[in-house]
Amino acid sequence: MPRPFYVTTPIYYVNDVPHIGHAYTTVAADVLARWRRLHGDDVVFLTGTDEHGLKVQRAAEERGITPAEHAEQTSRRFRDAWAGLDITNTDFIRTTEERHHRAVQEFLQAVHDAGDIELDTYEGLYCVACEGYYTPDELVDGNCPIHGRPVEQVVEENYFFRLSRYEQRLLDHYEAHPEAVQPETRRNEVLGFIKGGLKDFSMSRTSISWGIPLPWDPSHVAYVWFDALFNYCTAVGYGSDPVRFDRYWPADYHLIGKDILRFHAVYWPAMLMSAGLEPPRCVFAHGFLLVGGEKMSKTRLNQIAPADLVETVGVDGFRYHFMADQRFGPDGDFSYEAMVARYNSDLANNFGNLANRVLTMSAGYVGGVTPADRADGPLVAAAAAAYEAQAAALDRLDFASGFAAVWELIRATNAYIEDRRPWETNKAGDTATTAAVLGDCLEALRIVALLASPVIPRAAAELWRRLGWPGTPEEQRLPEAAGWGAVNGSGNRLEKGAPLFPRLDAP
Ligand code: ME8
Ligand code: MG
Repeated sequence: MPRPFYVTTPIYYVNDVPHIGHAYTTVAADVLARWRRLHGDDVVFLTGTDEHGLKVQRAAEERGITPAEHAEQTSRRFRDAWAGLDITNTDFIRTTEERHHRAVQEFLQAVHDAGDIELDTYEGLYCVACEGYYTPDELVDGNCPIHGRPVEQVVEENYFFRLSRYEQRLLDHYEAHPEAVQPETRRNEVLGFIKGGLKDFSMSRTSISWGIPLPWDPSHVAYVWFDALFNYCTAVGYGSDPVRFDRYWPADYHLIGKDILRFHAVYWPAMLMSAGLEPPRCVFAHGFLLVGGEKMSKTRLNQIAPADLVETVGVDGFRYHFMADQRFGPDGDFSYEAMVARYNSDLANNFGNLANRVLTMSAGYVGGVTPADRADGPLVAAAAAAYEAQAAALDRLDFASGFAAVWELIRATNAYIEDRRPWETNKAGDTATTAAVLGDCLEALRIVALLASPVIPRAAAELWRRLGWPGTPEEQRLPEAAGWGAVNGSGNRLEKGAPLFPRLDAP
């Protein structure tokens, strides 16, 4: 029975259209999903849109349409953007769906029954952009610390979730599961926040109607985060398919940006504990992609749409850039120049040229057919080391190091060619040596195509085909398929083809 593996992205607010920040998290989740599938896991990969709340209601009002119409249009844009980036999500959830309303209401009732919800009055500060509360000392220059915009003073009689009751249980949980919040800096941040004392938070609204009514008091709708976070459970069958829920819950990874860490690592596990459900196995919060050193935002007009970059570097080039450019954790600045430079060096030169070089020599020296023999030279160890290093890195979600390990095998293969000089052995009439060396290179390329496939699925599949292998890299199974000589390619018909990554002019 394949191992279940459940990975999620945040569900994105429909007040905004997809930009490279959203794509960053989504591509990372996709690479992870593809990597686990290559290992035979039964992967559920969820993304979607967060459609309730004040901020969406206001965005719709500005456009003079209903929140439902607005949500429908923008949600579609997210779905289209992900299709355009070869994202292999297995589900796409919208919080306005009937399945979600039913699940959330059942969950709300469970938390209510547990005695964790009480009516109270809230007076304080609220950031609509965050859909979150702040205390005065958390503000920066009187503004929201995340959005840098004014907060609103609100007074409401609301239902409160008794978060304060969960301080110790959360600390115990994170003590027992140090891996549950990553990276380390984020874990420390979460522990610091919990130790600073948790306040109950308002979990309902009467001021808006765009939301999910509380089952015991339909004059209130659920606070948008209370509703949104639960998407992760709805999608795997909470309240509708207990067997399925049991199989996939708790999620293996919630991938998020650091902006929503507190919701995921403090509110969410407490909400789940209240309803008798297990907290997620790991919340991994990455840093922010900055543009010109600044956070992207609608108001700063510095948002970049994924399609604008795909136009230049293609889908694979886009995916590769964001996974290879910076560590998955700290903030990093996006640079168009750096993206083109990396494309040219890593994809056009290293990956593309190696493929072209080996296939061209194979056409010239061994009749365009994979030779029966190999030299089984230094690339045997290089291939094994590549997979090992990649697997270790991807297990800790270090995508940059993971793919650097694959590119190490590309460099080793190029060095091997320089060292054995098949053009000289061919000229000297040493057909056996020439064939054996090319046999090694073709085998190394097979392994490169396989290991690179999670990040550059199109080029990997095309290289696979040109190497004469049936099927696709996705259909292979790791670790076996990464083994040197795992399959016999003798007699495969090779195809040279056009450059896999045509060089780009520097901008
Ligand atoms: O917060 N760099 O949705 P959201 C990196 N609906 N990642 C970025 C980014 C950037 N500049 N900008 C956005 C919400 N992201 C809630 C989530 S989940 C139950 C509800 C990514 O549309 C990153 O993953 O504001 C961040 O956490 C998320 O988009 C915020 O998306
Ligand atoms: Mg946001």
